[in-house]
Amino acid sequence: MSVQGLGYVRISATDLAAWRKFAVDTVGMMPATAPDGSLWLRVDDRPFRFVVEQGSADRFLAAGWEMPSQVHFTACVEGLRRAGIAVRDGTADEARARCVNAVAMASDPAGNAFELYWGRVRAYDNFVSAVGVSGFVVGDLGLGHVVLPAPQLDETASFYKSLLGFGDTDEMRLAMSPDPAVPELRLQFLHAACRRHHSLALIPMPAPSGLIHTMLEMREVDDVGRALDRCVAAGYHISSSLGRHSNDGMLGFYVATPGGFDLEIGCMGVTPDWNTWVPTRSLIPSIWGHQWSPPPQ
Ligand SMILES: [Fe+2]
Repeated sequence: MSVQGLGYVRISATDLAAWRKFAVDTVGMMPATAPDGSLWLRVDDRPFRFVVEQGSADRFLAAGWEMPSQVHFTACVEGLRRAGIAVRDGTADEARARCVNAVAMASDPAGNAFELYWGRVRAYDNFVSAVGVSGFVVGDLGLGHVVLPAPQLDETASFYKSLLGFGDTDEMRLAMSPDPAVPELRLQFLHAACRRHHSLALIPMPAPSGLIHTMLEMREVDDVGRALDRCVAAGYHISSSLGRHSNDGMLGFYVATPGGFDLEIGCMGVTPDWNTWVPTRSLIPSIWGHQWSPPPQ
């Protein structure tokens, strides 16, 4: 009983207009206003893929994991409860607000909140980007991915694999110093049932905003290049220059969002066949580019 893919991301914001300027005017998502006044952000035929809720802090709230059916949803929730995990059944109003049939809420061993849901409605008007993005790669691959803080790396990865059906895609081990006595940084990349290389990655470090980064894939490399130009022109901090990752082949860059976490904008990610995939161990994060720069103080 496996998660199908990343369905949505919930974000708390002190300034919805700042998010709208970033996500709509700069990245190229399509806005809508939720019945409760939240900012819905579309990238495909779903009513939203990001929901930005008015709040007292700028932070990530939760990942919404899509289950392929009611049977999978129910079995997964029961499995979590059998394992002693506290799961709250979402109310009918909460399911309606997410445009899904049913939703349940829980947290992983690192304290990252997540939601499971099944069923959906669709938006019937075409996705249109006001700044000319030709399209986002979503559909059967799910929204993209989230990279979550998980100081308890092994316990958290085991949780997602044993209780939510994720599988190993890649384990990245990065040398943090020429001194071999300094421990490597180990990252876990996990896939859902869909063919996205990883819908979830875990890094053993804290993240004050609740999220290391989330990723959106665009159709064309020129979409990515033009998005980079718009981010630079609008003055957003470019956390990493253009580069191509060693494991998922994603060509893109990272930009700091108003939420205190990064958004990776990329293209050309690989789509493995899980029947023949052998999990990899990557020794470098990127085959070129990705020069990182810390956020301005
Ligand atoms: Fe990423």
